[in-house]
Amino acid sequence: MGRIQGKIALVTGGASGLGEAIVRRYVAEGAQVVIGDIDLAAAKTLAEELGDAVSVLALDVTREADWIATFAAIEQRHGRIDVLVNNAGITTVGSIESLSLEGFRTMLDIDLIGVFLGCKHVTPLMKRSGGSVINMASMCGLKADAELLGYNAAKAGVTMLTKSAALHYARQRYGMRCNSIHPGAIHTPILEKVMSQVADPKALYDSWVSGHPIGRLGRPEEIGAIALYLASDESAFATGGEFVVDGGSSL
Ligand SMILES: NC(=O)c1ccc[n+]([C@@H]2O[C@H](COP(=O)([O-])OP(=O)(O)OC[C@H]3O[C@@H](n4cnc5c(N)ncnc54)[C@H](O)[C@@H]3O)[C@@H](O)[C@H]2O)c1
Repeated sequence: MGRIQGKIALVTGGASGLGEAIVRRYVAEGAQVVIGDIDLAAAKTLAEELGDAVSVLALDVTREADWIATFAAIEQRHGRIDVLVNNAGITTVGSIESLSLEGFRTMLDIDLIGVFLGCKHVTPLMKRSGGSVINMASMCGLKADAELLGYNAAKAGVTMLTKSAALHYARQRYGMRCNSIHPGAIHTPILEKVMSQVADPKALYDSWVSGHPIGRLGRPEEIGAIALYLASDESAFATGGEFVVDGGSSL
């Protein structure tokens, strides 16, 4: 028996990086996983590799209609949902001077409003039988970076949105929990995308490494491990928590 045997989980952004690592770990521990992503080609390739335990739904986290359709499809196929991982996200580089209004809005739309919509629309289905909502924040939700203004604002928003939702779920006795994960820099494609936005990518990479007292960047499976704990009944008393897995970078 796996640690989340038989649970039904939706992982947004499950086609790549941290989401992919979470999907792999959840399947290894016995869950049925739905990947919700805009990159359907990558999601389907992963689903084909992992077999019957994984299915794919087209989900743009910024579109409310997509969320409603996603949970309707999950209810029809599985009858319930036990775990939602609001993982999909982007990172746009920019300071208070350089970031455009459009860039700021796009950051908030995907990284914050996407999480709001996920939490909002999972609630009617999940509250029937309880479950765990896991929001992918970042160490950048806790610590400022002058060049990541929009990302800081979005991830700080996710941190407090998580606590407010957790309080509501607890007071309503829905049996639902809501926690945030705060990774440091982890080797995934998102880092390549950030490096492509700066003049000196090597200097940026070196600064990431030196910014982690543990002496290296993180590995996706190290975030998969905390996401597994939060999905499992082992974390039944944890709600509204900030689960920092950052190699000491926020110290
Ligand atoms: N990698 C890191 O160092 C790091 C650190 C802290 C937090 N995070 C957070 O972890 C999450 C995953 O990051 P990653 O490193 O795996 O990135 P990634 O770029 O490898 O993967 C992101 C995934 O999200 C999907 N996605 C993007 N926009 C979407 C949308 N509108 N709707 C649905 N899916 C969408 C992409 O298609 C992709 O599959 C993000 O929220 C990111 O902010 C990452």
